[in-house]
Amino acid sequence: MNTDVLEAIRVSALDAFEGVKTLSDFRAREVEFLGRKSALNQFLKSLSSLPPEERREWGSRANEIKREVTAAYEAAKARLEGMAFDAEAEWIDVTDPGEALPVGHLHILTRVERDICDIFRSLGFDVADGPEVETEFYNFDALNVPANHPARDMQDTFWLRQKAVSSQQLAVSKKSSRLLLRTHTSPVQVRYMETHTPPFRIIVPGRIFRSEATDASHEHTFYQFESLFVDREVSVGHFKYVAELFFSRFFGKHINIRLRPSYFPFVEPGFEFDIACTVCDGRGCSSCHGTGWLEIGGAGMVNQKVFEAAGYPRDRWKGFAWGFGTNRLAMMKYKIPDVRLFQSGDLRFLNQF
Ligand code: PHE
Repeated sequence: MNTDVLEAIRVSALDAFEGVKTLSDFRAREVEFLGRKSALNQFLKSLSSLPPEERREWGSRANEIKREVTAAYEAAKARLEGMAFDAEAEWIDVTDPGEALPVGHLHILTRVERDICDIFRSLGFDVADGPEVETEFYNFDALNVPANHPARDMQDTFWLRQKAVSSQQLAVSKKSSRLLLRTHTSPVQVRYMETHTPPFRIIVPGRIFRSEATDASHEHTFYQFESLFVDREVSVGHFKYVAELFFSRFFGKHINIRLRPSYFPFVEPGFEFDIACTVCDGRGCSSCHGTGWLEIGGAGMVNQKVFEAAGYPRDRWKGFAWGFGTNRLAMMKYKIPDVRLFQSGDLRFLNQF
């Protein structure tokens, strides 16, 4: 034995305890470096055969190393115990019912919109859509609402400020005229017809915008449904049948429809249509101001000028179009008293649905 051997034992033992990561490894190191048959203990045992002088010197050196190694052993043990799995504290009952987390849900308008789409789909209608930022062409011109015509004032428009457009750009496409926020979903009629050939039937759910003062029944931003049905032989009777079927399904009971002559530039003839009051079934109550009817929307036979704007030859097709407010239908079905609640973000309102 010499100092080099003792030093080698010291270094490898300290390294071993410092690097130990698992309990089984730790046990193995304990036996290897501090067990009865470890090099260190063997060495200490062999001291008795040495002369007293040497025994003292080697003995104190070896014991010093043993203290160091034991300290490293204790440190490793403490470290591993800190990591050890505490079964009692960490025990979980996997059959315990979980904590209920708050879950969001669809907005009432989204649900109503989806319900409406489902009913129309079951009647063979496709769902189409178009942009909310629309051009003057699609929102007005193509729908037979010429510039400077008083009909343009029927809807208060949010116009968008634009960078100057060069006259060359305007010449390339007359359609890319001034931009606005669409005031109704009717522009999608023209957009759809430009890329499809009849016969077809579509609905267009969408958000629309009107520059209006708001109150319990007026919003600047609301939702509408457009419906367009084009074929060779289409009559007002078809419209009335589809509308009655739709409203009856939506409200879950038979609903009568009434048409009143009215004017919209994109239909001829045009109507406003009412449904029998869903509160009193037409007998007259405060919801319908005693009339028995509720105003719902506009409708009519597609004006041939609109077909022409979409590129169809005149008098080849016939169709009916109608539009109604999604918010208004939701208000009727769920007895919501103020249209502004939809966009209020008020959870007390939203959580009821
Ligand atoms: N676009 C009209 C409006 O918003 C409603 C309408 C649609 C009328 C289709 C007739 C035909 O007031």
